Amino acid sequence: MWGGRFAAGPDAIMEAINASIGFDKRLAAQDIQGSRAHAAMLAAQGVISDNDARAIREGLLTVLSEIEAGSFAFSTALEDIHMNVEARLKEIIGAPAGRLHTARSRNDQVATDFRLWVRDQIDGAIAGIGALQRALLAQAEAGADWVMPGFTHLQTAQPVTWGHHMMAYVEMLGRDASRFRDARARMNECPLGAAALAGTSFPIDRHMTAEALGFDAPCANSLDAVSDRDFALEFLSAATICAMHLSRLAEELVIWSSAQFRFVVLSDRFSTGSSIMPQKKNPDAAELLRAKIGRIMGAMVALFTVMKGLPLAYSKDMQEDKEQVFDAADTLLLSLAAMGGMVRDMAADRAALEAAAASGFSTATDLADWLVRELGLPFREAHHVTGALVKLAETEGRDLPDLTLAQMQSVHDGITEAVFGVLGVHNSVASRQSYGGTAPAQVRAQIARWKEKLG
Ligand code: ARG
Repeated sequence: MWGGRFAAGPDAIMEAINASIGFDKRLAAQDIQGSRAHAAMLAAQGVISDNDARAIREGLLTVLSEIEAGSFAFSTALEDIHMNVEARLKEIIGAPAGRLHTARSRNDQVATDFRLWVRDQIDGAIAGIGALQRALLAQAEAGADWVMPGFTHLQTAQPVTWGHHMMAYVEMLGRDASRFRDARARMNECPLGAAALAGTSFPIDRHMTAEALGFDAPCANSLDAVSDRDFALEFLSAATICAMHLSRLAEELVIWSSAQFRFVVLSDRFSTGSSIMPQKKNPDAAELLRAKIGRIMGAMVALFTVMKGLPLAYSKDMQEDKEQVFDAADTLLLSLAAMGGMVRDMAADRAALEAAAASGFSTATDLADWLVRELGLPFREAHHVTGALVKLAETEGRDLPDLTLAQMQSVHDGITEAVFGVLGVHNSVASRQSYGGTAPAQVRAQIARWKEKLG
C-alpha cells in the first residue's frame, strides 16, 4: 500500500505485532458502511465521478456479502480491515477502487468505524438492561408484600419487602441505562473527513457523511476527531459500573441460594451439578457474573493506560483500543443476558424469607419507635430500653414478640399490651410509608412508575 517509499517488505515479526486484522475484522460492516457514505459524498461534491462512486458502492456490497458468507480471505500482509476491504474492492472493480481513499485516511476511517461499532453495543447494552429490569419487575410484582430480612453489615437490620429489594436493582440498572444513553449522545459525532489529522484540501461535505451514518454532526476539530477515544472509555466506564451492579446481585444470589439461606431456588437451566457430590446444585452462572467485572474493569484500566500521555494526534498505540472494548462488550452483553435469564427463572421461597425476616430481633427499631411515639421517650432512651429488652430476649432464647408483657414491664413499666402490635414483621414493613420506603404500597407505586417508564 505504500510500496512507493519502501524497498523492503516488513519482517515477519513486524507484521505479527503490527497487524490488527485478526481482531478488527469485526469492524467490517461499519468499515463498508463508512466507505459507501464517503464515496457517495465524494461524487455529490464532484470529487469523483458518479460512475466510479456507483462501482465503488456496489463493489463494497459484494465485499460485505463475501465477508458475511465467510468466503472472504483475510490477509495479515494487508494489516487491517480497511486495507483488506480496499484491496478486495480493487480486485472486484479495478481502477476506480483507488479513488475511494481520496480525502480520508485510515485515522479518521478507524475512528468512524469504531464509533459506529461502540454505538451499536451501547444500544445492545440498553436493551439487555431493559430486559433484566423487566425480569426484576416481575419478581417485585409477585412479591411486593413478601417480607424478608433487610441487612446492614450482612447482619439482620429491619424487615423489608422482597419487592423493595428487587426494585433496588431496577433503580441501579436505570442509572446504568442512563449512563449509556448519555455516552451515546456525546459520542454521536462523526470523525470522517478529518483525514490524517489536519482535514483535507478537497471540497468535501462532512455534514453529508455524518448524516448518512446517523451521527448528529461532524466532529468540529480534526485533530481531536482522530485522536479521541473518549467514547470507548465512556463505554467501558459505564460497562464497569453496570458489571459492578451485576456482581452485587450475583453475590446475593450465591448467598440466597445456599442451604443456610434458602431464600431462592435457581432454576436447573442456570445451575450446574458436581461431578463428585450428587446433592450439589451450584450457582455457577451467578459466580461467573460476580467475577466478570474483573475483565470489564480490566479493559477499562487497560485503555486508560494506553491513552494517557499520548500526544496529538493519532498514534499506533490506539490500535490497542479494540480488543479491550470487544471483549468488554461481549462480556457485558452476555452477562446481562445471563442475569436476565437467571432472575426470570428464579423462585423466591416466600416462607423461608418470612421466617428469616422475623428472626434476629429485626423489629427492634419498631419497638424503639413505639416507645418514642406512645410513651414520649427521647429516642436515645428508647434505644437503650430496647437494647435491654433484646438482651433479655436473647438470654431467654426467644424473639422479641415472644416476651411476656410482665417481662417487658420489668425493663420499662410504661409498656402496654399495644406494643405487640408493632413487633410483627408485616406491621413493621407496612408502617414504612415514607417515600421510597419498604411498605408494599410504596413498592407498588415504584413498580407502576417503572412499568410506565419501560413501556
Ligand atoms: N489498524 C489501525 C488502528 O486500529 C488503523 C489506523 C492506522 N493508521 C495508521 N496511520 N497506521 O488504529
